[in-house]
Amino acid sequence: MYDKGKIITGIVVFLLLVLFPVWYSALAGRTGHVPDPVISKSAGDRCVEPAEYMRSSHMDLLDAWRDDYVRHGGRAHVAPDGTRYEKSLVNTCLRCHDNKSEFCDRCHDYLGAKPICWDCHVVVERGR
Ligand code: HEC
Ligand code: HEC
Ligand code: HEC
Repeated sequence: MYDKGKIITGIVVFLLLVLFPVWYSALAGRTGHVPDPVISKSAGDRCVEPAEYMRSSHMDLLDAWRDDYVRHGGRAHVAPDGTRYEKSLVNTCLRCHDNKSEFCDRCHDYLGAKPICWDCHVVVERGR
């Protein structure tokens, strides 16, 4: 014989588990919340590559910079407009983005991403 009570309880528990992200973020009041990274005023008006590309691919660019620097001693990144930048996480990225906690961390914290770079690279934060 089927036990209706148990089946229904089972279905309810199953749905609660499957929908966990939905009701959890609704309860936590986070629905619709998006990260809001602040571009430092001293950063000028353009990045080392177009913003669209940076948004989606800065981690790949950093990987490529590190590999080229460490393996081949490559130091110069030439931007599309001809500007030359040193291939450096701290000396370059954090020179313009001198507000890591309001910029890099806003997105990463939101995503739960924890780049290990800062175990070794020293964060220089000059403010905004
Ligand atoms: C010369 C100053 C400068 C340097 C160096 C620089 N940035 Fe940027 N970055 C900017 C500016 C200004 C913007 C906003 C550009 C725009 O909106 O068109 C930006 C945009 C970005 C964005 C997109 C932000 C968003 O809200 O979508 C990311 C991600 C980023 N930079 C990461 C980096 C990383 C990683 C490095 C080092 C590899 C770096 N930047 C180096 C000035 C810089
Ligand atoms: C507009 C949002 C945004 C901003 C601003 C941003 N990041 Fe990211 N970052 C991401 C996303 C999305 C990922 C991919 C996370 C994942 O795959 O889990 C990422 C991943 C990374 C990774 C690879 C992490 C890993 O563990 O492999 C590095 C390194 C990184 N970001 C560096 C930076 C630095 C340095 C800055 C500030 C100069 C910065 N990011 C600013 C959104 C951002
Ligand atoms: C275990 C320590 C360690 C970790 C973790 C680490 N790095 Fe490095 N990184 C180094 C060392 C050492 C160098 C070489 C520095 C030199 O020769 O001046 C370097 C060089 C680099 C360079 C080129 C030189 C410069 O000034 O930046 C880049 C870019 C870079 N790392 C990016 C990253 C990124 C992005 C992450 C995180 C995803 C990361 N590194 C994590 C130790 C580390």
